[in-house]
Amino acid sequence: MARTFIAIKPDGVQRGLIGEVISRLERRGLKLVAIRLMQVDADLAGRHYAEHVNRPFFPSLVSFITSGPIVAMIWEAANAVALARQTMGSTNPGEAAPGTIRGDLGIDIGRNIVHGSDSPESAEREIGLFFGAGDALDYSRSADRWITES
Ligand code: RTP
Ligand code: MG
Repeated sequence: MARTFIAIKPDGVQRGLIGEVISRLERRGLKLVAIRLMQVDADLAGRHYAEHVNRPFFPSLVSFITSGPIVAMIWEAANAVALARQTMGSTNPGEAAPGTIRGDLGIDIGRNIVHGSDSPESAEREIGLFFGAGDALDYSRSADRWITES
């Protein structure tokens, strides 16, 4: 089953939106297989956001993501990366569609509540940064057959 890495950023934690974000992904039908409340340090932030190292917003992005606890998670579904990004909405909450996490809960690109991997390759890389081998549980839910046909 495909996996994606999702993080509730420090703004989401501070605003009391942990349950809200998890609930939206759960209700959509994705399956939570690992979860960890943690503090990100500058080294991990730099590795996680390595693709943005030369962008002007990189210093503020690292400062923000290290400013308080995050909730790191692994979610499973067929096409998990695209499904999660659709549920999250566009990067800039000011442009994100109503009904999405960012579109309903945010207004500022620098405070966009959640992170989600942008490809299956990114997902595996990010999962490896935030979790160890064996952290993701393999289990089935009795509702699975009511969520997917096969
Ligand atoms: P994320 O990685 O956090 O899930 O967000 P994303 O894929 O939708 O967006 P990405 O391009 O990867 O950007 C990473 C984060 O950097 C901040 N950002 N600020 N000021 C700006 O122009 C700007 N652009 C991006 C956002 O917090 C974005 O989530
Ligand atoms: Mg990204």
